[in-house]
Amino acid sequence: MPGYDTSEHDVLVIGAGGAGLRAAIEASARGARVGLVCKSLLGKAHTVMAEGGIAAALANVDDRDNWQVHFADTMRGGQYVNNWRMAELHAKEAPDRVRELERWGAVFDRTDDGRILQRNFGGHRYPRLAHVGDRTGLEMIRTLQDHGIHQGIDVHMECTIVRLLKDGGRVTGAFGYERERGRFRVFRAKAIVLATGGIGRAFRITSNSWEYTGDGHTLAYDAGAELMDMEFVQFHPTGMVWPPSVRGILVTEGVRGEGGVLLNSEGRRFMFDDIPENYRSQTADNAEEGWRYTQGDRSARRPPELLTRDHVSRCIMREVRAGRGSPHGGVYLDISWIKSRLPSGAEHIRKKLPSMYHQFKQLADLDITDAPMEVGPTTHYVMGGVRVDGDTQMSSVPGLFAAGECAAGINGANRLGGNSLSDLLVFGKRAGEHAADYAAGRQLGEVPAPEVEESARRALEPFERGTGGEGPYQVQYALQDAMQDLVGIVRNEPEMRRALDVLADLRARAAQVGVGGHREYNPAWHAALDLHNLLTVSEAVTRSAIERQESRGGHFRDDFPEKDPACATFNLVVRRNDDGSMQMSRVPIPRMPDELRRVIEDMK
Ligand code: FUM
Repeated sequence: MPGYDTSEHDVLVIGAGGAGLRAAIEASARGARVGLVCKSLLGKAHTVMAEGGIAAALANVDDRDNWQVHFADTMRGGQYVNNWRMAELHAKEAPDRVRELERWGAVFDRTDDGRILQRNFGGHRYPRLAHVGDRTGLEMIRTLQDHGIHQGIDVHMECTIVRLLKDGGRVTGAFGYERERGRFRVFRAKAIVLATGGIGRAFRITSNSWEYTGDGHTLAYDAGAELMDMEFVQFHPTGMVWPPSVRGILVTEGVRGEGGVLLNSEGRRFMFDDIPENYRSQTADNAEEGWRYTQGDRSARRPPELLTRDHVSRCIMREVRAGRGSPHGGVYLDISWIKSRLPSGAEHIRKKLPSMYHQFKQLADLDITDAPMEVGPTTHYVMGGVRVDGDTQMSSVPGLFAAGECAAGINGANRLGGNSLSDLLVFGKRAGEHAADYAAGRQLGEVPAPEVEESARRALEPFERGTGGEGPYQVQYALQDAMQDLVGIVRNEPEMRRALDVLADLRARAAQVGVGGHREYNPAWHAALDLHNLLTVSEAVTRSAIERQESRGGHFRDDFPEKDPACATFNLVVRRNDDGSMQMSRVPIPRMPDELRRVIEDMK
């Protein structure tokens, strides 16, 4: 492209967390020339916020585990609207991906006989999470990065893509800008893998950092791909609530996996009050049994703190609303109590949960070996994303693939903790493999110059408007407030309709925001460019949530508080109409093969 710094790759991977790195490694191993675009610095990815472990049925700690149980757990957690083919592939392939990561240098915690140690997590029937203390995501990124940089992958750091380019229906490139210098970049590619993560920044309280503004979702949607399951947003039950500057930062589920209990202001373990029928037979009804379970007693049932995240989050909200919360609007999470059971309890906590120990010490001046933490739900993950083929990860746009959080399917209505890291590995690999195959034997397509020029012109508009009017952050904060308050953990139609009105108003305001200064390292400019993505994903979440008139998984409506069996038969899909409006449709879930059906029946 004359006038623009242009790179050419067979496969361009946008996003460099676990899924992007794994896709890049695979495509490169298959001989493709790979470019890897990171919005931030390489290694800074939300993957590190999956702290507690990688779910894989290795059966190292409990030999009753196998892919069938993992599959059944994932489907039950997702309340049966998952893409069953993805759930099957994921359960079958996760163990190999974990062992491969170990061969590439990941240093996992160990069982006494030297195998990869696995811990308990919500919704997983057996101890299944391969982990590295409470830094598993970090170790995954470190390992993939170390492995990947020796493969000749071209890494484009601090580069944000704002538009995908197409030629004759097929994706042929991408247009973006460098954060540091503000220069525009054009990428030509035969295939593109989106691995941009989630949409957490559309909410006020989130574990996601500034990068997670729904970029991949929006790039795909604008390019004509479909988004699916956008109503399903995961509110992780335990984020920090105090001090305000750190509100939303994740407190790993690993704390509960190691025996941490949730208490209200009366000191009561309120999770015992509400155990869903379909988990009752597997859930302990007294503290003693729950403790024995966390200590590996195979005859014991799991404590109610390890029920699925959607349920635990709602129970916490119930306590807070009933006035039984902690002083700063959360509840208590106590791991210090295990000192009464384990002589070396404090040391055990520091060893198993080193990051949590330091996080609370440094950010909240609290020693978690001595005192309970204050925690509350935080927006952590979106189950919805680009609709892809389960085997290849290709979207409905030829040459455009998606993997990891920005792809939909595997998790259905609710993701089990730890299934994200295994998802990134399994489907990152698959996306890289199929993108490389797609690129092989194809020529680079044309990138349409008028679209590039139009993208550049539009990207610079905020500078033309200058600082006289409203800035991007006011719009961003208003959007986050609206989504948090009107489309959050508990939803209903009147509030969501109000949210749609607010979003329409914010879209008009976003079109008028202005920024000052110049193009070099200008965060306000970047925030202005992110607004389109935030507005798009917020509208998709809201419209889908209005359309799904029931409660299921991460989607809870107080005007439809029950699950409706009729709603288990479809996924909601949004696509862009030619006039820019959002079209919603119900897409029937294909019938599950009898063999998988039987697996689920047997597990029940
Ligand atoms: O709580 C956690 O460590 C988060 C894990 C996950 O989201 O998979």
